Amino acid sequence: MTTIPSFTMNNGIDIPALGYGVFQMTSDQVLEHLPQALELGYRHIDTANAYFNEVAVGEVVRDAIATGTVKREDLFITTKLFPQSYPYAQAVKDIDATLERLGLDYVDLLLFHQPYGEYTSGWKAMEEAVAAGKVRSIGLSNFPIAKFQEILDVADIKPVVNQVEAHPRWNQHELKAQMDQAADTEVLVEAWYPLGHGDKTLLEEPAITAAAQRTGATAAQVILAWHLAEKNITFPKTLNPAHMADNLAALDVKLTEAEIAAINEIPQAPYYVVPDEPPTFTTTVMDYSQQA
Ligand SMILES: NC(=O)c1ccc[n+]([C@@H]2O[C@H](COP(=O)([O-])OP(=O)(O)OC[C@H]3O[C@@H](n4cnc5c(N)ncnc54)[C@H](OP(=O)(O)O)[C@@H]3O)[C@@H](O)[C@H]2O)c1
Repeated sequence: MTTIPSFTMNNGIDIPALGYGVFQMTSDQVLEHLPQALELGYRHIDTANAYFNEVAVGEVVRDAIATGTVKREDLFITTKLFPQSYPYAQAVKDIDATLERLGLDYVDLLLFHQPYGEYTSGWKAMEEAVAAGKVRSIGLSNFPIAKFQEILDVADIKPVVNQVEAHPRWNQHELKAQMDQAADTEVLVEAWYPLGHGDKTLLEEPAITAAAQRTGATAAQVILAWHLAEKNITFPKTLNPAHMADNLAALDVKLTEAEIAAINEIPQAPYYVVPDEPPTFTTTVMDYSQQA
């Protein structure tokens, strides 16, 4: 079984560099495919309140522990609160509700999913959850540098990661440098859309196909090898067990400095611009207890 390398976060805790993301997966898909991922050796799972599949994730994880496939301490489970949960008193309640849905005593990483609403109020609840042992590490997602700084201004515990769009066409070099400077420590990037969310044209970038040809790897594997070299954490989503295995095997693909540099020359543009003001879907209050 492939050994998955880890990065050490700024709180001294290790995070597996590659995981399995369950965005846009129904509970049934999670029940079918997450066990396959765990069998193949995945130990890091990325979900969220807003994915409406935490109950299924918890079921699979508890079953895998009960049958001896994995030990809880070998798993790294991330979930995320949505802005409706950020006001302090609400965050205190919703962290407990999240653990209850997952059926777990703690999660390894809890993120604020979107940079809207009362995130500075809720950060204290996140820190208290760490002190109470309900959450091991806390971080952010989709936070631009100005809002990241607002969290630092109230934080006793600094965010360990910012989960943002990142891939060869949006390498986030600028945000990384800004965050590390503002936090005076390393803040790791977790890459969403790590493979371009199914955009085939990303796989056809000449710098990527050239490296694929030299190494004998697929274009997707070259992109994942680039992420690893860039110290980005990834959790590509796939329902295809062959792709799950390919993505693990990408950890053994070694790119040259020249190949990494060529990939970093790809013109930059995000797929999605995080708006300053909340879009409608973030202000809609959702009932996460309603999960199939
Ligand atoms: N925080 C946020 O706001 C946010 C936003 C988006 C995503 N995320 C996280 O990031 C994770 C990944 O994002 P994503 O699913 O949107 O994008 P992605 O992983 O970049 O793309 C998924 C697509 O890549 C394909 N794929 C996966 N492995 C492949 C391989 N080896 N070869 C060829 N194609 C492959 C999949 O198709 P097949 O099924 O055919 O393999 C699917 O179409 C999510 O699950 C979630 O955990 C977070």
